[in-house]
Amino acid sequence: MLNLQSTSSQRWLEQVRSHLPEILVDHAHCEKKAASTAMNLIFAYVEQVPLVLGLSEIVTEELAHFRLVLELLNRRGIEFRRLKPAGYGQQLAELVRPQEPGRAVDRLLVAALIEARSCERFDLLRRHVDDAELAAFYDSLFESEARHHTTYVQMACHFAPEPAVRDRLLELSAAESQILSPGDPLPRMHS
Ligand SMILES: [Fe+2]
Ligand SMILES: [Fe+2]
Repeated sequence: MLNLQSTSSQRWLEQVRSHLPEILVDHAHCEKKAASTAMNLIFAYVEQVPLVLGLSEIVTEELAHFRLVLELLNRRGIEFRRLKPAGYGQQLAELVRPQEPGRAVDRLLVAALIEARSCERFDLLRRHVDDAELAAFYDSLFESEARHHTTYVQMACHFAPEPAVRDRLLELSAAESQILSPGDPLPRMHS
C-alpha cells in the first residue's frame, strides 16, 4: 500500500527512545514542511485546477497537524526551536528530474514517498512508544498520511501514463530506502 521498499530499523526506534523531545520538535517541522511542499506545488501547477483543489486540502490538513504538534510540545513543556534537518529531504529532492513533465511526476512521487515513510513511522510509534498520549496521537495521524501518499501518486498520473508513474515510483522508492539505510546521526523523524 505504501510503496516502500524497506522497513524502519530498530536503530531508529532507539533514537526515538533516547531523543524523544528532539524527534517531536522535528515532527512539527515535518508538518510545516509538508504544508509548504503542497503550497509550492500549487504555485508550480496553478492552472491544473483539480490538482490545486486536492493540494489545497493537503495544505490545510498539514497546517492543522503542525498546530497539533505545537500544542503537544506546549503541553509537555518542550520548546519549539529551529533544528538542522536530516539529509533525507535534500537527498530525495536531488533525484527530481529537471525537465517537465518528469519534474512534476518526480516532485509528486517524492512527496508521496515522504508521506509514506512518515506514515510507516507513525505506525511504529503508535505501537512501540511507551506513552499513551503519544500512541493515541500517532494513531490519529496515521490514516491521513496514508491518504496523502495515495493522493500524491494519483496526482502524478495527471502528468504521465500510470505504468510510467509506477516504474518511476519503483526507482524512487528504491533510492529512498538506500538514502535511509545508513542512518543519520541526527535524531529526526526521517533519520
Ligand atoms: Fe501531516
Ligand atoms: Fe501528510
